[in-house]
Amino acid sequence: MDKWLKNDLEFIWHPYTQMKDCGRFPPILIKRAKGIKLYDSQGNFYYDTISSWWCNVHGHNHPQIKAAIKKQLDSLEHVLFAGFTHTPAILLARKLISISPGKLTKVFFSDNGSTSVEVALKMSFQYWRNIGEIKKTKFVTLDYGYHGDTIGTMSVSGVGLFNQVFSPLFFPSFRVPSPYCYRCPMDKSRSCAQGRDKDETPCDIDCIASLENLLEQKSETISAIILEPMVMAAGGMIVYPKEYLLKAANLAKKFNVHLILDEVATGFGRTAKMFACEYVNNVAPDFLCLSKGLTAGYLPLAATLTTDKIYKAFYADYKEKKTFYHGHTYTANPLSCSAALASLEVFKEEKTLNEIKKIIPLFHCGMEKFRDLPLVGDVRYIGLIGAIELVKDKLTKKRFAFEERIGLEVYKRGLKKNLILRPLGNIIYLFLPLCIKRNELQDALDRTYAVIKSLT
Ligand SMILES: Cc1ncc(COP(=O)(O)O)c(C=O)c1O
Repeated sequence: MDKWLKNDLEFIWHPYTQMKDCGRFPPILIKRAKGIKLYDSQGNFYYDTISSWWCNVHGHNHPQIKAAIKKQLDSLEHVLFAGFTHTPAILLARKLISISPGKLTKVFFSDNGSTSVEVALKMSFQYWRNIGEIKKTKFVTLDYGYHGDTIGTMSVSGVGLFNQVFSPLFFPSFRVPSPYCYRCPMDKSRSCAQGRDKDETPCDIDCIASLENLLEQKSETISAIILEPMVMAAGGMIVYPKEYLLKAANLAKKFNVHLILDEVATGFGRTAKMFACEYVNNVAPDFLCLSKGLTAGYLPLAATLTTDKIYKAFYADYKEKKTFYHGHTYTANPLSCSAALASLEVFKEEKTLNEIKKIIPLFHCGMEKFRDLPLVGDVRYIGLIGAIELVKDKLTKKRFAFEERIGLEVYKRGLKKNLILRPLGNIIYLFLPLCIKRNELQDALDRTYAVIKSLT
């Protein structure tokens, strides 16, 4: 074994990894990257088909983003953000407000996706305290939702393999059935996800009834609803109808509970819009959580955007004890803010959102081809995110058992075909950098097809 890998296994505990597997199947030592390709120490390349955990946007080694970080490094690498500020953060906050939906006017920075959600949860909770509505303490989430790995964010996520062991630590939340059309909670047979059953009329989003009933009964105890707009990402890249989002947003308004939109995964063009919530006109979240693609995947940064209404409930004389006491050491790191500003500039200069529109039909068409393969139960996609749900039996939709590790098998075969098909259980997905070129996309699709076909 390579000496670096020996050292890795001696000293490092990797995330989301059963380290015992690493003896037989060690991590891949990546030396460099360019565009959508990663290169390992043996000179092999891999298509970064999952955007380096959903954060790379414009490709690796982008000259403009690198230059911005280097330039910032020459003047200020970091400073505490309480009592001090800096221009990269000010410029970025202004820019984020200008491109965000609804009535968001204030930016609270932090440093990763989970913290951006923690901030939203805590702000929502404290808002109600600050205005004297102390009974509003609970959160509502979807049972396939995922919002992070901290105790707070796990408490408002669905409960499954990732977090079950910690469930005794969670604070209580309400979980409602997800709009998971392939496995419809209302037992309807049609899929209302796009690209499927086009002739059928869309369902009436009957699954929203659980949320509505809950709000009717409990809204005076509920602080906020938290949702990933359009795609429940870690829950299985579950693309859901925009009507659900619209109805949920309207219910939040009607029942006087906050709407937290978690765009940590879906933000920054992944779904073909800058923010996935733009699929619904005039959506107005109380909180918008951003991270991952915010810096195009170059440096850690997160932001929680909120409204003047929320902000004003905290704006008071010090002795009133309405201050939001929350912060992280690397909050609004200047290098990260510079990377984020450069990324937004690249969006403009390279017309990224227009350019991806030209290749998305090719992607969606390519995804449709998987549908006929024997082990493929469902195919779903939006923008440059596409997922294939593998099943043991197409007719009954029976899942592969956990022990069968079908996802791992796909992952291994994917690597041999220069792909990173890191699965979510039985769900294999592509989460593509927005800079992918037509020929790369076709090649990645062909290779993925060969991998899935080989399973049969
Ligand atoms: C929707 C969503 N929210 C929050 C998070 C947590 O982000 P992080 O891993 O940066 O803490 C993730 C991570 O995958 C996510 O997909």
